[in-house]
Amino acid sequence: MLHQLKNYIKHCLKSFHLHGIHSPFVFTLEKKCLRDKTYYEQYDAIRCFRESVKNNNTILHIEDYGAGSKVFKTDERCVSDILKYNSSDKKSAEMLFRLCNYFNVKKVLELGTSIGIATHAMTLSGAHVTTIEGSPEVQKFAQSQFKKFNLDKVQSICSKFKEFLKHQIGTTYDLIYIDGHHDGMATINYFNACLKLSHKDTIFILDDIYWSRDMTDAWNQLCQHANVTASIDLYDVGLLFLRTEQLQERFYIKL
Ligand SMILES: C[S@@+](CC[C@H](N)C(=O)[O-])C[C@H]1O[C@@H](n2cnc3c(N)ncnc32)[C@H](O)[C@@H]1O
Repeated sequence: MLHQLKNYIKHCLKSFHLHGIHSPFVFTLEKKCLRDKTYYEQYDAIRCFRESVKNNNTILHIEDYGAGSKVFKTDERCVSDILKYNSSDKKSAEMLFRLCNYFNVKKVLELGTSIGIATHAMTLSGAHVTTIEGSPEVQKFAQSQFKKFNLDKVQSICSKFKEFLKHQIGTTYDLIYIDGHHDGMATINYFNACLKLSHKDTIFILDDIYWSRDMTDAWNQLCQHANVTASIDLYDVGLLFLRTEQLQERFYIKL
């Protein structure tokens, strides 16, 4: 908690002092996507999808392959609580939709489906989303949601991230969203394994970069990774770019 508060204050100060963005790429991204206030019709669909599970009391068994939960003490979780504590909130889901839309993303890889809130938001842009979830009951629930909402561009796979990544060859993704197993070393390993699934314009999104000291250290290391050029710290999430047109630089944006 203290770690998050300290870093939130630091983030506010950095985004204030470093607000003159000299990269045209990041400047335009900020203006036309991250701060875009247009009301997209897809936001209605995002709201409906969330509402469809808001009062769902189904209990799902959780296999914890991640760094554990700060909220739950048992491995049984109610769907409505998963929505509240383990899923993208409305604002984040809308931003994920905008990012896919802005970059005209065709193929997404999501590590960490949960009940499919972000998967749904990203596929609303027209992107094909391959999404990975390690908990069988959670994956089954998400899959039933995708079917109910006729999401024919979603491929939902039940697997541990490591196992899935081990067997991937010959395919690349335009956007890779790492949102699960909030452990620093594991995050770095997933990023490195995903590099072989990327191209120079792939966008990496890392969730919860201030979740723990360990996650923040991993984020700081990845910003200095030899393959990473621009990194954008939005506090809740971090964006990493591999674009060779740009020298390595860190940006801080407070939304
Ligand atoms: C924070 S939730 C994902 C939220 C979702 N991306 C969204 O934005 O709505 C993380 C999910 O990743 C799954 N997970 C965590 N570590 C995993 C691992 N190593 N392999 C497979 N699944 C994992 C958890 O079961 C959990 O459902």
